[in-house]
Amino acid sequence: MDSELTTMVIFLLFLLFLLLVSDPKMASATHCTTITPTKTYQKCMTLPTQQASIAWTFYPHNSTLDIVFFGTFISPSGWVAWGINPSSPQMTGTRALIAFPDPNSGQIILLPYILDPTVKLQRSPLLSQTLDIHLLSSSATLSGSGGSTTVHLGAAVQIHATLKLIPNKTKIHNVWNRGLYVQGYSPTIHPTGVNDLSSIATIDVLSGAVSGSHDNIKTLKTVHGILNGVTWGFLLPLGVVTARYLRHIQALGPVWFYAHAGTQLSAFLIGTAGFAIGVRLGELSPGVEYGIHRKLGFGAFCLGSLQTLALLFRPKTTNKFRKYWKSYHHFVGYACVVLGVVNVFQGFEVMGISRGYAKLGYCLALSTLIGVCIALEVNAWVVFCRKSKEEKMRREGLVGSSEKGNDNYN
Ligand code: HEM
Ligand SMILES: *[C@@H]1O[C@H](CO)[C@@H](O)[C@H](O)[C@H]1NC(C)=O
Ligand SMILES: *[C@@H]1O[C@H](CO)[C@@H](O)[C@H](O)[C@H]1NC(C)=O
Repeated sequence: MDSELTTMVIFLLFLLFLLLVSDPKMASATHCTTITPTKTYQKCMTLPTQQASIAWTFYPHNSTLDIVFFGTFISPSGWVAWGINPSSPQMTGTRALIAFPDPNSGQIILLPYILDPTVKLQRSPLLSQTLDIHLLSSSATLSGSGGSTTVHLGAAVQIHATLKLIPNKTKIHNVWNRGLYVQGYSPTIHPTGVNDLSSIATIDVLSGAVSGSHDNIKTLKTVHGILNGVTWGFLLPLGVVTARYLRHIQALGPVWFYAHAGTQLSAFLIGTAGFAIGVRLGELSPGVEYGIHRKLGFGAFCLGSLQTLALLFRPKTTNKFRKYWKSYHHFVGYACVVLGVVNVFQGFEVMGISRGYAKLGYCLALSTLIGVCIALEVNAWVVFCRKSKEEKMRREGLVGSSEKGNDNYN
């Protein structure tokens, strides 16, 4: 039974891993191109969000960067923006070029904007102003669909720019986004889903290398997701199931206790590592708040710690406080499992994969567990009813007493 359980857990772990790794949303669907109708560039790269990509040529001898950004509109009256942030990989401080249909002529236009710290506050409309970076030229063209000149949903746009970079400073922070609506000549806020808020890439235009930090964050997120999904979302509930149903199988004796304690302790230890990674991820993305996910995470971790600490104060079976300890242990345990499972679903939201295969896999694993629970619950009832019937018969002197209870671990 125990090894069967282990095999099942390993199998599910593997399944979850496979599904998470093969999640199509985690891989970029589009390919980049270096060729545009007007120019051919040396390098290109797909960007991680919004099916965007860039292509560029960098001339080191005069530090000139010739770059084109490929984006798509999400509404006929929307905007598409690309910019560079001279100081840090974030929206605030970005020098942006924003393309949208001119409200008067309907033709596509490209205007420069500086996204200073007040933009996020949305106190006043965003107004175009000349950039303080060395922008030599810029333009926007609609592409695809046979040279159509009107913006429509899904229309592809290219933003061209030629910039003179600071000599030897070839790492640039690309920032891009797109919104649904432009008020006059003022673009209004973009959607703030996780993907929209991850539209930043630091690229060395000389080597074409992407700066490591975002890759690291992605790896951290994946590890955090797998560790916490498996431990808080599956192993801890599994441990509860073990305690609830195996303890009544007398043939197993104290096995249930070791299975339960072993599962919960190891799940809690690994889950703590996952939790710590989560806290680190929170620190790494200031300004991005996932209130509920964070609070539930801290809640589940506190309950888990309480539960582990309580082991130190576990009274003997004979102690009269034992039954209070037991109720406490059950209450905290169930609360911890509920918070953990709910938070795994919150995690799928936060990762923006609430329709991905990873979630499907997790749901399958969880519903299998719930199915097993229902079966065991029904079985327990049947056994209970049979026992009480036997008990009745025994009291009536028809059957002799035979079994002895196994109270030691109850
Ligand atoms: C039009 C006015 C704009 C408004 C009112 C606005 C507002 C905001 C707000 C409130 C956030 C933070 C959301 C959150 O943390 O939940 C944000 C993030 C972000 N915005 Fe904008 N935004 C505007 C334009 C732009 C433009 C033009 C770009 C791209 C060139 C852009 C790129 C980003 C990026 C990449 C983030 C996530 C990273 C960060 O928070 O720094 N935004 N924006
Ligand atoms: C930089 O050099 C390239 C290639 O030699 C040339 O095409 C471009 O015009 C130069 N840019 C500037 C600003 O001098
Ligand atoms: C940039 O690097 C080159 C070669 O590494 C060097 O010769 C040049 O002086 C540097 N320029 C600046 C402004 O640091």
